[in-house]
Amino acid sequence: MSQPPCDQTAAWHQLQTLFNARGRDFDLRQAFLEHPQRSSAMAVEAPMVFGDLSKHLWDDGIRDALIALAAERGVAERRDAMLRGDAINTTEHRTVRHAALRTPAGAPTDDASAALARTEAAKFLAYAEQIRADGKITDVVNIGIGGSDLGPQMAVVALHPHVTPSIRFHFVANVDAHDLDTTLSGLNAASTLFLVSSKTFGTRETLVNAQLAMDWARAQGVTDLPAHFVGVTANPEAARKHGMGTVFQFWDWVGGRYSMWSAIGLSIAIAIGKDGFQAMLDGAHAMDRHFAEAAPAQNLPMLLGLIDVWYRNFHGFGSRSIAPYHHGLRRLPAYLQQLEMESNGKWVDRDGHPMAVGTSPVLWGEPGTNGQHSYFQMLHQGTDRIPVEFIVVAHPDHPHAASHRTLLANALAQSRALMIGRSLEEVLADAGPAPSDEVIAVSKQRAFRGNRPSTTLLIERLDPKTLGALIALHEHRVFTSAAVWGINAFDQWGVELGKTLALDVEARMTDPGRSRADLDSSTASLMHRLESMA
Ligand code: F6P
Repeated sequence: MSQPPCDQTAAWHQLQTLFNARGRDFDLRQAFLEHPQRSSAMAVEAPMVFGDLSKHLWDDGIRDALIALAAERGVAERRDAMLRGDAINTTEHRTVRHAALRTPAGAPTDDASAALARTEAAKFLAYAEQIRADGKITDVVNIGIGGSDLGPQMAVVALHPHVTPSIRFHFVANVDAHDLDTTLSGLNAASTLFLVSSKTFGTRETLVNAQLAMDWARAQGVTDLPAHFVGVTANPEAARKHGMGTVFQFWDWVGGRYSMWSAIGLSIAIAIGKDGFQAMLDGAHAMDRHFAEAAPAQNLPMLLGLIDVWYRNFHGFGSRSIAPYHHGLRRLPAYLQQLEMESNGKWVDRDGHPMAVGTSPVLWGEPGTNGQHSYFQMLHQGTDRIPVEFIVVAHPDHPHAASHRTLLANALAQSRALMIGRSLEEVLADAGPAPSDEVIAVSKQRAFRGNRPSTTLLIERLDPKTLGALIALHEHRVFTSAAVWGINAFDQWGVELGKTLALDVEARMTDPGRSRADLDSSTASLMHRLESMA
């Protein structure tokens, strides 16, 4: 059903009024002074994730107005439509059922899709256990890109202490064969298992790499190639045609960037085992129930999605920095980039009307504390304000309590420093009486304006269950902002043009006799220059 643009709603106008009255100049330091209970009042407990939302440029009234916006935009109705299996991906006429992949039997949203998912999960989890038990495989290489790479890779890296030590895991995504060559050098084909992961089984990068991997295995003397190649796909026929000996399936109702819960997570299942994988699904399901059932004011994914709208559209913040204070979460920013930017990087709404307001922010980041010694300068003193998302893990999986305390202290200190800043007066107080013009100029450069917002997400430990909850939290937060904006978060037409043109350019490079007259002069002359360098 068509909707008016989001900025034409009563709640949006109300938010604009609030922004003009107190949002634009909202002072966090003042807010904490005036409301000593602010921290607890703005804390949200979700399953396995505690959210501190107090260091945001909002108050109860702004939060209530954002919740009213969610109501006016039908966020809860759209959420329910997704969970019950309506075809909300309207450009592809598909349902959106990643939550069904983690729905246990008997849960409120259990249905035929969830049952199908459990049947397939039983198969690929049994296969994973078999690989772990028989001891013949020393290396698993996942070949896939985008959602067929980022989720599994992020999770296997994050869950390192839970990963079997007897198998090494590798992820090859790039069609740049340096990626594959580097990975394969030193591997023994006889004990290597390739998981060729592709929803469509038509992605050029993946097919090119799979072919190279097959050539390599053959050259190493492997005769039973199909035994070393497993396909994971929603297109089993194509996988078999490409020589996959074993095929695990998922379905078109699972978006690529939402697919790590399906057989696409086979590398995770081999890495952490059946029970670990099930725990990850259970964590995600717990977050699904929270998203479905918690009241908006206590609904962490919903509130995060609404804060994202508040910052993107009212404050005009164009990006968000992800700062996971855990070495294991070093691939999380890359994972979240696809999740959010491929979902919400849309310029028209579901009715095809151009958006009058901005959609997906740019997401970027590095694990703490590394980022502090690089771009945090800009976060603290740059001209743009960029909300930061700190992800803090209470218990490490190593025995070095003191260094973990240092890590935690840095996370807390950074969010505090961003907020409190350091005024010119404070800096000058150190300079003694009657500072010279030069001292004043230097002091200005040493001052921090502060009032820079951040979220802190706190988890007990980084284990499969908690990781599942953390990732589902982000899926639903992206859903929430998309629902407010009225865009389709589940297609990705924006990647198609580049794919088509790459095929065209490649065909022209393969056959230099083909006319280039219709190409723009930049592309044609770059092609020519590359040829002259060959
Ligand atoms: O090009 C974008 C994309 O379609 C992503 O949405 C997807 O995750 C990725 O390519 C890989 O696609 P596939 O799993 O079909 O190989």
